[in-house]
Amino acid sequence: MKKFTKIICLLAALCICLTCAACGNAKTESGTPSSADSGKKLVMGTNAAFPPYEFVDDNNNIVGIDAEIAKAVADKLGMELEIKDMEFDSLITAVKSGSIDIALAGMTVNDERKESVDFSDTYATGVQVVIVPENSSIKTIDDLEGKKIGVQAGTTGDNYCTSDYGQDHVKQFTNGALAVAALANGQVDCVVIDNEPAKNFVKANKGLKILETEYANEDYAAAIAKDNKDLQEKFNKALKELKDEGKIAEIIEKYIPSEQ
Ligand code: ARG
Repeated sequence: MKKFTKIICLLAALCICLTCAACGNAKTESGTPSSADSGKKLVMGTNAAFPPYEFVDDNNNIVGIDAEIAKAVADKLGMELEIKDMEFDSLITAVKSGSIDIALAGMTVNDERKESVDFSDTYATGVQVVIVPENSSIKTIDDLEGKKIGVQAGTTGDNYCTSDYGQDHVKQFTNGALAVAALANGQVDCVVIDNEPAKNFVKANKGLKILETEYANEDYAAAIAKDNKDLQEKFNKALKELKDEGKIAEIIEKYIPSEQ
């Protein structure tokens, strides 16, 4: 009897071991390790609620200017592109930690970010604008003082408004669409955000408009880890070729048709 119990115990232990091993395997397969060791993969992080730079289409794919530029660069480099959607304010940390190779997210180049990451050459420009209800008393930037301003957390719009008007006047949202929804509901008096997404959000929400006065002009680029000079060089080389071939202009024109 005793012997029998022993055998059962041994068998049970073996089963547990085998199951664990199986779990372990499954994990390494699905939890993609750092792209660096897969060699051929370019892992891009973004925040896909920022049309026309990145958004989720009807087929649940992440599309937009940044997604297409990254794909074109990856093609040139003979790499496979993988896109990870995350919070905008996690992107820099993700680049630093190596969980993504690049962040392409309509990301503005600025000195503060340059302390943490490197930037590629720029591929587009952006303007911080102010969205208000059509009947708003806010007519120009000068009227923002004392108002409740909605922003996407961790963006340059957030930084400018927090330093210009104080934390108490700025309400942070996880994405621009939520900030604009809060504006439509009257929870904030205006939203400061990049001009092209602003146009998209205003189109999607009745009764809103964009002020003509601009808050700030900016350049967009890809963020790359400081110790990844090799990728930075390759990325810039591919980007330059794509610019020279007219491919970047073509992608931008596809999503932001120039008015005739
Ligand atoms: N250009 C702004 C910044 O760099 C906003 C970018 C937001 N991008 C996004 N994919 N949500 O801070």
